[in-house]
Amino acid sequence: VSEANNIWTVDTPQYPIRIGRGVRERVAQFAPPNAARFALISDSNVCSLHCDSVREKLAPLGHVETLPFPAGEAAKTREMKADLEDRMLATGFGRDCVIVAVGGGVTLDLAGFVASTFMRGVPWISLPTSLLAAVDAGVGGKTGVNAPAGKNLIGAFYPPLAVLIDLNFLTTLPTIEMKNGLAEMVKHAVIADKLHLDELLATGRQMPRPDLSVLGRAIHRSVQIKAHIAGEDPYEQNLRQVLNLGHTIGHAVEKVSKFEIRHGLAVSIGIAVVTAMAVELGIFPEADRTQVIAVLKTLDLPTRVPHDLDEQAILESTRNDKKGRHGRTRYVLPAGIGKMAQNEDGGYGMEIDDALVLSTLRALKDSPA
Ligand SMILES: NC(=O)c1ccc[n+]([C@@H]2O[C@H](COP(=O)([O-])OP(=O)(O)OC[C@H]3O[C@@H](n4cnc5c(N)ncnc54)[C@H](O)[C@@H]3O)[C@@H](O)[C@H]2O)c1
Ligand SMILES: [Zn+2]
Repeated sequence: VSEANNIWTVDTPQYPIRIGRGVRERVAQFAPPNAARFALISDSNVCSLHCDSVREKLAPLGHVETLPFPAGEAAKTREMKADLEDRMLATGFGRDCVIVAVGGGVTLDLAGFVASTFMRGVPWISLPTSLLAAVDAGVGGKTGVNAPAGKNLIGAFYPPLAVLIDLNFLTTLPTIEMKNGLAEMVKHAVIADKLHLDELLATGRQMPRPDLSVLGRAIHRSVQIKAHIAGEDPYEQNLRQVLNLGHTIGHAVEKVSKFEIRHGLAVSIGIAVVTAMAVELGIFPEADRTQVIAVLKTLDLPTRVPHDLDEQAILESTRNDKKGRHGRTRYVLPAGIGKMAQNEDGGYGMEIDDALVLSTLRALKDSPA
């Protein structure tokens, strides 16, 4: 790991990650020597802002076909995958092509999954443009699409050739998307690193437009944490479960709010709830929770349960979460900032009584305005 000219590097065993202002300009460096054709896959929002700057860097190497698709989670489907594949086939793309994904998590998941099966697999390069994609979706090698039965149910582990996190992309990112990513960064800090939490506090003081070098340093740390955890457990056998911190409640809050509450904000509420349960169980120091809540608040992230969300409905919804085993819900809990609680089997899922979940949700309910 090095830091020179404000370009940070995280080298995972499978692919290099570069973080810094302008790193998109290096995209051609990471293309294989035989690459002759490039499929630039990007959502409609991001493409109109950023496709040209990437296309320009690839054009000297060969033909670049820009393949935009409609922005939004609704596009992350098998149908959209087939549509992109058909467009690539119609253009005569073969095994010598490289897919270049420019966008948020939706784009990376979709384009990476296309790469995993096109001509039985072609290389791809990942350029995350949202903060959430930079610190989460863009690291770890998971790709995929949603199915009517649920999110991310169809997919593949298919790492890219390289991940280039150009901080300049973030200058066009809406504030709400910034907050979505920051919540995942707080999660990484609680899982692994107290210092990272302090960095996020510094970032929070600069909201809504944090300085890119301060944010870059924090992104670097968050990426290191995610890459380390994903690297230790590439196929999600055990350790990777810790990344679900705040997500069991978070997913339930998203669902019960009918997806009015965005993922990151729901995760923030989830972190507030599980840290409170961990304090109640006597495994997480109260002072640590106070610090976590202060950072979430500085980042303008929610720490209370909206008054119109029914706690029983939230509890019921946690049972459908994929972490649920045998009808009881397991939670990933912190044992300190930077330390996760482990069960007798060395795993990270802890079963919690419904009564504690309900009383905590009730205690954290916002009063009606
Ligand atoms: N593969 C993984 O390990 C992993 C991990 C976490 C999340 N995900 C997936 O990631 C997705 C969420 O990612 P997301 O929050 O980035 O969603 P997203 O890709 O839909 O991007 C959010 C919004 O921001 C816009 N946007 C992105 N970058 C922009 C920029 N630089 N300027 C202006 N607008 C920009 C997009 O057009 C979109 O409207 C979900 O589908 C989730 O399942 C995957
Ligand atoms: Zn998440």
